[in-house]
Amino acid sequence: MRVAIAGGTGLVGRAVADEAVTRGHETVVLARSRGIELTTGTGLDHALRGCTAVIDVTNVATMKAGASTRFFEDVTRTLLTAERRAGVERHVALSIVGVDRAPFDYYAGKRAQELAVEAGPVPWTVLRATQFHEFAEQIHATAKAGPLHLAPKMRTQPIAVREVASRLVDLAEASAVGGYVELAGPEEESLVDMVRRWARATGRRGWIPAVALPGGLGRAQRDGTLLPGAGAEIGVETFTAWLERTTGRRSSGRREPQGT
Ligand SMILES: NC(=O)c1ccc[n+]([C@@H]2O[C@H](COP(=O)([O-])OP(=O)(O)OC[C@H]3O[C@@H](n4cnc5c(N)ncnc54)[C@H](OP(=O)(O)O)[C@@H]3O)[C@@H](O)[C@H]2O)c1
Repeated sequence: MRVAIAGGTGLVGRAVADEAVTRGHETVVLARSRGIELTTGTGLDHALRGCTAVIDVTNVATMKAGASTRFFEDVTRTLLTAERRAGVERHVALSIVGVDRAPFDYYAGKRAQELAVEAGPVPWTVLRATQFHEFAEQIHATAKAGPLHLAPKMRTQPIAVREVASRLVDLAEASAVGGYVELAGPEEESLVDMVRRWARATGRRGWIPAVALPGGLGRAQRDGTLLPGAGAEIGVETFTAWLERTTGRRSSGRREPQGT
């Protein structure tokens, strides 16, 4: 089938495109760098011609609720309107476990995306995944105070991006569920531990203090709100195995002491 990947140049999008091509599908990537602006729809009608399914893995770099909500609502509505015109049979969107429970400004946009998908004119499935193993690197790059890298105290059950990508392609191949599928990795981890182990495995030096974020978001990070529910599908690759595969270094699997 011909499948469009909105955000197909990003971290998840590249893995989705690879997986879809491996399975013999024809892919079309929707991204600004491919001449398609999804907040306005420029270039979209032509790109969607002949597509059976759309997988939406777009993203916006913001921590503000307004900007996140605007982006995900605009992109979703633009996509769904164009999909209906093009006769696309199903829309698969990637969301995050806990977006309906944790008071995080970015999550407000993800929840708005889910609601726009639910209300839209195209049969749909939403895959809610937990944090990716790659989240350790993203936190190391962005959670900084001066020269210090900080690691938020958070319970998470991270999943490999390639397993998320594979499940997204499965869902695009099948009939729309009209509901939510949850996917998590095989083991609960502490984000502090993940960030420190990633830093050690990649030769980053320096002390990485653990921080407890204040307010409702910090509470949600620490109390397990972002962990998968009982009915979640569970992936295969652990954080330890992912770290070894992607850094080429054997990991002791040693956990860092917490709260330091
Ligand atoms: N990080 C996690 O642990 C986690 C966990 C679960 C779910 N998710 C979800 O996974 C999704 C994908 O994340 P990611 O890290 O793969 O994102 P990413 O690497 O930042 O990629 C974002 C993609 O969106 C495209 N894009 C952005 N704005 C666009 C616009 N206006 N028009 C067209 N294309 C646009 C980008 O291409 P151009 O720049 O070329 O436009 C790029 O292909 C997100 O929705 C996120 O919420 C993340």
